[in-house]
Amino acid sequence: MDQGWSSWLVHLTYWSSTSVLVSWATCDATVADSAPPPPTVNQNSVVLVGPAPRRHTQAVVGVATSYVHDYGKLSQASYASPLLHHVLLSGLTPGATYYYTLGVPVSLAAGAAVGPGPKEYSFKMPRASFPLRIGVMSDPGQTYNTSEMLQHLIASQPSLVMLGGDFTYADTWLKPDEHIPEEVQGPYSYQPKWDTWGRLFEPLLSRVPLIHTNGNHEIEALPDGRRNVAYNSRFPVPGVGRAAPVSFEPVTSSSPYSNLYHAVELPGVLKVISLTSYSPDQEKKGFGSSRDEQYKWLQQELENTDRSVTPWLILLVHAPWYSTYASHFKENDCMREGYEPLVTQYDVDIMLVGHVHAYERTKPVRNYYMDTCGPVHITIGDGGNSEGMNKEFIDTMKRQPDFCDHPEDGKQFPRDQPERCLSWQKGHYCFKEQPDWSAYREPSFGHGTLDLLNKTHATWSWTKNQGGAFNVADLVTIVRGSGGKACSAPPAAAAAASGR
Ligand SMILES: [Fe+2]
Repeated sequence: MDQGWSSWLVHLTYWSSTSVLVSWATCDATVADSAPPPPTVNQNSVVLVGPAPRRHTQAVVGVATSYVHDYGKLSQASYASPLLHHVLLSGLTPGATYYYTLGVPVSLAAGAAVGPGPKEYSFKMPRASFPLRIGVMSDPGQTYNTSEMLQHLIASQPSLVMLGGDFTYADTWLKPDEHIPEEVQGPYSYQPKWDTWGRLFEPLLSRVPLIHTNGNHEIEALPDGRRNVAYNSRFPVPGVGRAAPVSFEPVTSSSPYSNLYHAVELPGVLKVISLTSYSPDQEKKGFGSSRDEQYKWLQQELENTDRSVTPWLILLVHAPWYSTYASHFKENDCMREGYEPLVTQYDVDIMLVGHVHAYERTKPVRNYYMDTCGPVHITIGDGGNSEGMNKEFIDTMKRQPDFCDHPEDGKQFPRDQPERCLSWQKGHYCFKEQPDWSAYREPSFGHGTLDLLNKTHATWSWTKNQGGAFNVADLVTIVRGSGGKACSAPPAAAAAASGR
């Protein structure tokens, strides 16, 4: 990458039906034995934008930030990010196409005539009407499987993209070509992986706005206690403390929620609520408790949702609530127990999740029983990352893990949850056969496409990598259930059979 003012890592974040955040980087990143210096400002954070190619009618100014990961003696891969620019374009028209170029060199800023930038990009704001196509992926990483998935997703020409966390897997690398052994993962990362990921995804994300949430691989806990620093710096979201004009505070342990949950709307079509499976407060205080800040926010957000304005209501979360894969089995069950009553009370239609590196779609389900009051859960963590695919189902294992018989001893599970949440189905902690609510499951890499057709009907399709861009392996029509307030009481059959 050159040291000039050329732009890279260009991506768009969906902010509202009339606004989008344009983000990009300038300067090189730096890797060093110990804390490298942050980048010097070489470019103003300006987007030149207009309704036709090379007809830029507006120059919109934003902010720039950067971050340093200092690992001290722990690793030789201390890192200073490039300069990360963020500019909020507002007053846009749904359905309209915009053309944009990035930045003005600082050396030219003082009244000098500036021609068009070195490269022009374009995007189309999503239409605030049906039909709407959304491309869905999670846990992509950056392998040849990721590239294939990405090409297929681009070919489907979505109006929006959703990403369920675990973007880059930078925290699994010590060097460009050396993985960190799993047993010592945590205090290190190889941050240039964020940059290579940004370059890989630029062809999609410079054209299609993204809605996302964080996964466990975004946490990247630093020796000084900070978490989610790269994620927050590179992929800010609207909402919690981030009203326009966009501003950025350094992410500290006193602001753990900076980027971890938010909601966006496309009036006339849908609302998407992104939640985190990993916040420091929840780990201490318990999901769904009165001390859970995210839960209290979600309650308010759901109460304020007008379904006549946003008929579709979708939750984007990293770790699944309903999965029959052995990997991460019931790992997020505490969140399910805490949040599910709220989710069914307010008639959430679909939950999109990742974390498990495979594909699974459920029928509407709640409390481990098929129930039209519950959402359809779709695990789409099959984006292609280097950790590989999760292939085993808990119910077909020749020898189930020890926790299946004695979950109460808690020695092995839940590994990532401090609370133990012991839910049962048909008297068993682990499934003995594929549950009836598990509609389709297959361990292959791929992506999903959600076509919202009208207020009540949608088509979901899963395209697996094998067989080309349009090899749809799972296809289903999703009809919004009866749901709503009438569903607030748990089904009697489930309560009686829960064994609790
Ligand atoms: Fe994950």
